[in-house]
Amino acid sequence: MAATTGVTLELDDIQAGALYERPSPYVGTYLMLRIADRADGRELVRRLHRIVNPAGAADTPDNTSLTVAFTYHGLKALGVPQASLDSFAPEFRQGMAARADVLGDVGESAPDHWEKPLGTDEVHVAIAVLSSDEEQLQAAIEKAHRALTELPGVELIWHQDCYQLATGRTSFGFKDGISQPAVEGSGRRPTNPHERPLKAGEIVLGYPDETGELPPMPTPEVLGRNGTYVVFRKLHTKVAAYRAYLRTRAASREEENLLGAKMVGRWQSGAPLALSPDQDDPELGSDPLRNNDFLFADDPRGFKCPVGAHARRANPRDAFDQDGSVDVRLHRMIRRGTSYGPMLPDGVLEDDGIDRGIVFVFAGAHIKRQFEFVKTQWLNDGIFIGAPLESDPLVGPHDESSGFTIPQRPIRRRLQNLPPFVVTRGGEYCFAPSLRALRWLAELDT
Ligand code: HEM
Repeated sequence: MAATTGVTLELDDIQAGALYERPSPYVGTYLMLRIADRADGRELVRRLHRIVNPAGAADTPDNTSLTVAFTYHGLKALGVPQASLDSFAPEFRQGMAARADVLGDVGESAPDHWEKPLGTDEVHVAIAVLSSDEEQLQAAIEKAHRALTELPGVELIWHQDCYQLATGRTSFGFKDGISQPAVEGSGRRPTNPHERPLKAGEIVLGYPDETGELPPMPTPEVLGRNGTYVVFRKLHTKVAAYRAYLRTRAASREEENLLGAKMVGRWQSGAPLALSPDQDDPELGSDPLRNNDFLFADDPRGFKCPVGAHARRANPRDAFDQDGSVDVRLHRMIRRGTSYGPMLPDGVLEDDGIDRGIVFVFAGAHIKRQFEFVKTQWLNDGIFIGAPLESDPLVGPHDESSGFTIPQRPIRRRLQNLPPFVVTRGGEYCFAPSLRALRWLAELDT
């Protein structure tokens, strides 16, 4: 148990992967399983229950962790009673593929083009195994595989290796994973000293959230409490197209870096434009005490950090505090981005045909007002910043008419004809249950 600010989180019951940051650097793998036989599925859950890491453990052994989550179809395959299935959030029940139109997963990103079996009824269990060390990772994967032995009714149907570089940079070259909300009772300090820790119920079910209410929780309580929803997305990144686009719009390498930074809201090193608007500052970028210590209200027009930059859209911080139109705290989430595929070597502007990108995981108690809201209202749309025709310059669903405004004096600059740089390759809405809930699932006798 941990009580830091009034709330006592049952850390021994919450899966560590849902709450705590990952080691850096790390290697990992995601495994997706299908449960063809209910009894075998329950035996699998019984075995996984023994090897998942509770958040209460001081540190995971050897910096290795295993997290397990289930899709709606997975819970169904385990025999969770219908009344209980019906008590989950509607978006979770529908699944991510069914939400494609809402999410802007259309055209090249539409579920018809997703990597199979992602987005189908076949995906039941998602397991993430991560470690700071390749040897330990192999040992942990071995453990996960052992949990599958002699269970012919459980099938490994997809896997994806992933990693985080020591620099924290992902395929477009930017350091990621800097800004995270802190959660009351988790014992972890906020990365942004101006942001009070979120009420625990924003991330973990069974506790009051920012509205002061208990978030809707699946029943029975033993299944819902201490669980969290997990959004999984595999995103292909068109790195060569992104670099080539910047090359055609910039007169020098310095200007390329500046335009890239304006799109993201941070320089590649992670240094925020809000603190270092004119040039990169790698020391600032790598300093965890300073690299997230900023707000936006002092820059309402976006001269330092454009209001349409990715990270400012995704978390406008105090930018709307004056007019009160947005309560940012209702749209925060835990974010874990990780790289897959080899990095495109520096300087290469032609596509080498190799699949590379980011596997994103978002954790939170409210799929709709957290992940879906941010994706649809803030990244895919520009109404909230007074630019209805502009979507996120880096990750938005662009077409020929897409542009990006960079406020500057004497006249603003407008980047035109932004091609899409990110393509959805698949995704799932999952539920990461508590350890007690895992036991309950394993013991179902329906
Ligand atoms: C391939 C796609 C994406 C890339 C390359 C990307 C990259 C980045 C980078 C470089 C940052 C700045 C580092 C940081 O502040 O930690 C960032 C921040 C963030 N991104 Fe993304 N992102 C992507 C997709 C998304 C999506 C789909 C969402 C949500 C629906 C999202 C939500 C966020 C949030 C909430 C932040 C933190 C903003 C803050 O608190 O300042 N990102 N992203």
